Amino acid sequence: MAFNNRNRSLLSLVHHTDRDLLYLLDLSRDLKRAKYSGISRTSLAGKNIALIFEKSSTRTRCAFEVAAYDEGAHVTYIDPASSQIGHKESMKDTARVLGRMYDAIEYRGAGQKIVEELAEYAGVPVFNGLTDEFHPTQMLADVLTMTEHCPKPLTDIAFAFVGDGRNNVANSLLLVAAKLGMDVRIGAPQDLWPSDDLLTQCREFGVASGARITVTDDPFKAVSGVDFIYTDVWVSMGEPVEAWGDRIELLLPFQVNAELMAAAGNPRVKFMHCLPAFHNSETEVGAQISSQYPHLANGIEVTEDVFESAANIAFEQAENRMHTIKAVLVSALA
Ligand code: CP
Ligand code: NVA
Repeated sequence: MAFNNRNRSLLSLVHHTDRDLLYLLDLSRDLKRAKYSGISRTSLAGKNIALIFEKSSTRTRCAFEVAAYDEGAHVTYIDPASSQIGHKESMKDTARVLGRMYDAIEYRGAGQKIVEELAEYAGVPVFNGLTDEFHPTQMLADVLTMTEHCPKPLTDIAFAFVGDGRNNVANSLLLVAAKLGMDVRIGAPQDLWPSDDLLTQCREFGVASGARITVTDDPFKAVSGVDFIYTDVWVSMGEPVEAWGDRIELLLPFQVNAELMAAAGNPRVKFMHCLPAFHNSETEVGAQISSQYPHLANGIEVTEDVFESAANIAFEQAENRMHTIKAVLVSALA
């Protein structure tokens, strides 16, 4: 599959075709195999990549850094405290500065408009490492992981996202499934459904791709017959801590526990999570929530037994962040 993605940004997936995405997945598999075979590569030698993180990260930052180093590139990590961005310098000016020094820029922050402005003025490819609206690099890893854990053709794979159905991960899952012709179900209370605009857009993509799109407030209907059950935190980065109370009340019926996993009716069903996950009270937030809501001591969006079961493939997803981000970098910059 010969393809030219040179100098291409990855902002939301809205402008990527199914062929673009399938090409990136194919390249990810090649790069993963090369790494496992001990083949050293230098396709990005001499390239410099800026990594702007205005929200915290473990996986995305490490995936970009390792992917870049593996291919011979250099990176500069810019955290919220150590740059002028926003405080003393606009994104438009920052874009025009960084574009003079770097071959590409990764950006994680709040509004989608910010990453789009960065891409408009930088003059080099920009990769969205998560905004309030979308998390496109996560999607490549997730679809790659699904194909590695389900023998069906991609267009026959069914998965359910249950939880905050209008967060960045849910929006992006809907979008990638609509583009690739998959069976996607969003199980969420109506207050947390994806926006009408996004749903309309995805249904239009689905006409061409054959995607089946279901949005329901019945968690059991959402997961019936699926190959994968996916969830994410109930309160995302950037949302106020006060949101937890209402969110817990709304989302408790959508917690991924043994009963919901069984409701898939599929003994091979797998559990997915972009991570980080609140699956016990061993984190600061987990402990704080369980002190206020003792019934959540064994997990918030997913219970400890499901998380620690053989069905959990979240760490495969985490590894695949690196191989897929490497494909994005190589296809745009090599
Ligand atoms: N899944 C994900 O984006 O993780 P980080 O927030 O650790 O980057
Ligand atoms: N929805 C989560 C995803 C974290 C990777 C957040 O934005 O915090």
